[in-house]
Order: sequence, then C-alpha cells, then structure tokens
Amino acid sequence: MKYRVLFVCLGNICRSPLAEGIFLDQAEKHGIIDFVEADSAGTSGQHEGELPDSRTRKNALDHGLKLSSRARKFKATDFAAFDQILVMDNRNLEHVLNMAQTEADALKVSLFRDYDPQGRGEDMPDPWYGEEEGFEEVFQITHRTIIHFLDALRKKM
Ligand code: 4NP
Repeated sequence: MKYRVLFVCLGNICRSPLAEGIFLDQAEKHGIIDFVEADSAGTSGQHEGELPDSRTRKNALDHGLKLSSRARKFKATDFAAFDQILVMDNRNLEHVLNMAQTEADALKVSLFRDYDPQGRGEDMPDPWYGEEEGFEEVFQITHRTIIHFLDALRKKM
C-alpha cells in the first residue's frame, strides 16, 4: 500500500505542481519511489487542464526537473483518496479544511511549511504576480521543505 500525498495551492500551476515534481524526484533519489504516490490540485478551478505556468516550468527545468502535470481542482473525494494533504498557504488551508466532512479528513491536512524549519506556520509566497526571483525563492523553499518532509515520512515507514 503506497503512501499518497496531495499538494494543494490556489491555481495548481505554480506552487503545488512544483512541490509534486520535487517530491517525486527526491523520493526517487531517496529510494522510496515505490512506496509513495503524489498529485497536486488547486482550490480554484480557473486553470483546469493547463500545464504549470511557463515561468515555473522554466525555473524547474533550470534545476533539471521537467514538470508536465495538468491543473485540476481540489475535490471532496481527495480526502479519501490521499493519506496526507499539504497546503501551500493559510488561505487555501482554510478553504480545504472547510471542505472536510470528518475529523479524520481534517487530520490529514496541514500547512506545507510546517515541515520547513525556517518557516513553520508561514505561507509559501505566491510567485504569480511577481518577478523571476520569486520563482527561484519558491523553488528553494520547496526543495528544503520536501527534504524535511521526506525525512519525517521515512521515519513513519
Ligand atoms: P499557484 O499560483 O496557486 O501557486 O498555482 C497562482 C496561479 C494563478 C493565480 C494565482 C496564483 N491566478 O490568479 O490566476
């Protein structure tokens, strides 16, 4: 039985597809790829069906990572389909928690950066309206947070 992780942001074209890509890449490098599954979703359906933002894809590719997921909207059935749901900022965390039907659903949900020793409780910055440096900052925060998340996950396995 694989451990299923869902990453959630607003549009599912910048932050969460990057987290999904880095998670799968690092899971491969850490030798646990056969034991995990990952997906990403957005609380807004505005970009449904789209590839990640071209700036996110370019930045990821600069780090050797090809992102090819398609955006989709977070749905109520995701609570049953995943073991853990990591959300990129407090606004979207509230949105997801409001959709939880049971305590067990809600317990699966937490803030992504709770795994970032340099930013517990903090939002992942939204790079959408900003400049290129913002995408690199998001990459760096996501990369280090995923490393810490994988450490925590390996202890659970
Ligand atoms: P994401 O970034 O939530 O990290 O995918 C955004 C993407 C699109 C928009 C906002 C944030 N938008 O307003 O369309």
